[in-house]
Parts: sequence; C-alpha cells; structure tokens
Amino acid sequence: EKGGYKHFMLKEIHEQPQVFEDTLAGRVNLLEGRVYFEELQEFPIDFERVVIVACGTACHAGMLGRIFLEKFARIPTEVDYASEFRYRDPLVDSKTLVLSISQSGETADTLAAVSLAREKGCRVVSVCNVLGSSLTRISDWVLYTRAGVEISVASTKAFLCQMAVLLLFAIYLGQHRGCLGKEETRRLLEELVTLPRLIRDILEREEDIHRLARKFYLFRNFLYLGRGVLFPLALEGALKLKEISYIHAEGLSAGEMKHGPIALVEPDLATFVLVGQDVVRSKIIGNMEEIKARQGKIIALCCSGDQEVAEQADEVIYIPRVTECLLPFLAIVPMQLFAYYVALEKGCDIDQPRNLAKSVTVE
Ligand code: M6R
Repeated sequence: EKGGYKHFMLKEIHEQPQVFEDTLAGRVNLLEGRVYFEELQEFPIDFERVVIVACGTACHAGMLGRIFLEKFARIPTEVDYASEFRYRDPLVDSKTLVLSISQSGETADTLAAVSLAREKGCRVVSVCNVLGSSLTRISDWVLYTRAGVEISVASTKAFLCQMAVLLLFAIYLGQHRGCLGKEETRRLLEELVTLPRLIRDILEREEDIHRLARKFYLFRNFLYLGRGVLFPLALEGALKLKEISYIHAEGLSAGEMKHGPIALVEPDLATFVLVGQDVVRSKIIGNMEEIKARQGKIIALCCSGDQEVAEQADEVIYIPRVTECLLPFLAIVPMQLFAYYVALEKGCDIDQPRNLAKSVTVE
C-alpha cells in the first residue's frame, strides 16, 4: 500500500504533482483568465476583513493565505492559531469572514474556534481535505483540497494543496472585488499550471537532497530563515524537521535575526536560508554574510543561477525561477525531502513520530 516507497511520507511527497493538478482541476480557466469555485454558491463579498484560524502546518498555509489575500484581493487579513483565537474573546462579527484550514477537519482547537466564530455571527469558509468531516459540517462553505488520504503524521501533500486552494481563493476574491485584472490573472494562472512539472523536476533530483542530509543529520540545532512568502515556509521547514527527526529547529523571519537569534550562531549551528528574488533578497544575503562571519553553516535554497547566494553558502539547492508568490510551491519540496532524509539517516520512525498523533482531536 506504500506503492513501493519505504514510508508513507515519501509516497505522499511524490504524489504532490498529481494532487496539485487535482486541486486545480475545474477551478482554473486559462482562456478566460478566471478562477471558479463551484462550492462558492451565493458567496458574499461584502465582509470587511478575514480572520484565518488553523493549527500547525495548516496555520503555516494560513500565513501564506494572508499574504495572498492581501495582495490579490486587497482585504485586511489576520492569522491566528485556533488555540489562541478560541480563548481570547476575539473581536469578530458578521462583517468578518473566518477562514479555517484543516487537513483532517477534526482538530479540536480548530473546531472550537469555528464554533465560537459562528456564535459571534461570523460567516465561515473552510479549507479541508476530508469529505464530510466535523469541520465541513459546521462551515458555511467548504473548499476541498484534493490531496487524497494523508497517512503520514507529517503533513506534506495536504499543505501543498492548502496553499493552492488559498491562492485560488485569493484570486477569486480579487476578481469579484474588482482589484485583479484579467491579464494579470491569466499570466499568474498560466504559470501556476506549470508548477506540477517543475515539482516533478525537483523530485527527480531527490538524491542530491539525500546526500545533503547525510552531511547534516548530526547537527543538533537548525535555524530556518525566510522573508515575505518564504517566511511561512521557513516555519514549515523547521516544523517538518523537528517532527520527524527530533532535531531542534526554529523558523524565523530573517529580519528578526539581529534582534536576538544571531546570538545562537556558532560553527555547530546549521541555517537553512530561503532566498527569493524580490526586494528583500539583498537583506537575506546580508544575513548570510553575518552567519558566515561567525562560522555558522549555511544551506541556501534559491533560484537557479543565483551565484551571489551560492557564494555565501556551504551548500545550495536550486529551484526554478518563478514569480515570487509561486516560489513556496517549489521551495517546500526540497525541505520536505531534507527532513525526510535526515530522519531516515537518524533511524527515526518517520510515519509515526514519537509523541504525535495524526489528528489532534483533544486539547
Ligand atoms: O488536520 P489538521 O490540518 O487540522 O492538523 C493540524 C496540525 O495538527 C497538523 O498540521 C500538524 O501540525 C502536522 N503534524 C504537521 O505536519
């Protein structure tokens, strides 16, 4: 049932090009340059803000969703851990759209956050992977990720599909709120549909990541740095590593380094740096120089041909050059593989990591 793979996690990582295509199917119209959601019948666009609630990996997708919604739909958006939202007496009302995200649809905190939001009069749209799960039954609208059954405790393909649905939802809202032109949408969608092929290409270079993991699996501390769309990805990369390899890993916005974490840098610290191509690229290169000066080890994940980044790094992982907001869809794959192979080298129980359950159905 693992389809020839050693673990469900690896199988699910490899399913990503396919489930990504499934998630886009019927929702993207390239000719018209439009996004459609059959599920969003009578969907109002008169709300004033969006509050995203989720836990763990789903929350990292939510952080990216916030960036998408603000960029493409120009709607003020906040993200909250469901476990914080539910106990904070949050300021939400009928003008708030609550967007919950959950692979299982059974996470206790997410369900409680949504129930509270409903009591306060919010409308709720949920991004979920499991048909008919508890979350889908208490939501006004459900946008399904079509990742298929995810067995590995460490979420991989569901995360990719969550990011895809959130991007499509942001574009959908942007169109309906009149802040996203047809041509811009068309260009974005045309690039979006090329991603599965690019993900396949990255998966074919899996052995390079395995070699990298062999060099780094004995490190005891990792930082993951990113900014902009790559900040949530830094959090997700760190979570993957800690979940299955039990290595301490911390995800940070690279801009925060100077405000404390740089004190950690020493030769025994490994830093995974995610570098895009937008305005903050030069700032991240600055972070890398500071880490190098203190003999910290650097793995850089950057766009093909970025020599300047490669020169500052001990190891480089290249991903294809795509529009900045699409980089997360590619950047996530080498990070998942890296966590997987580090855990494999350490001999960890990858599909059933200690202390963790697939669905956190109790607080
Ligand atoms: O089923 P959910 O998406 O609601 O689960 C939320 C988290 O428990 C989940 O993403 C968890 O963080 C994963 N183990 C991450 O790999």
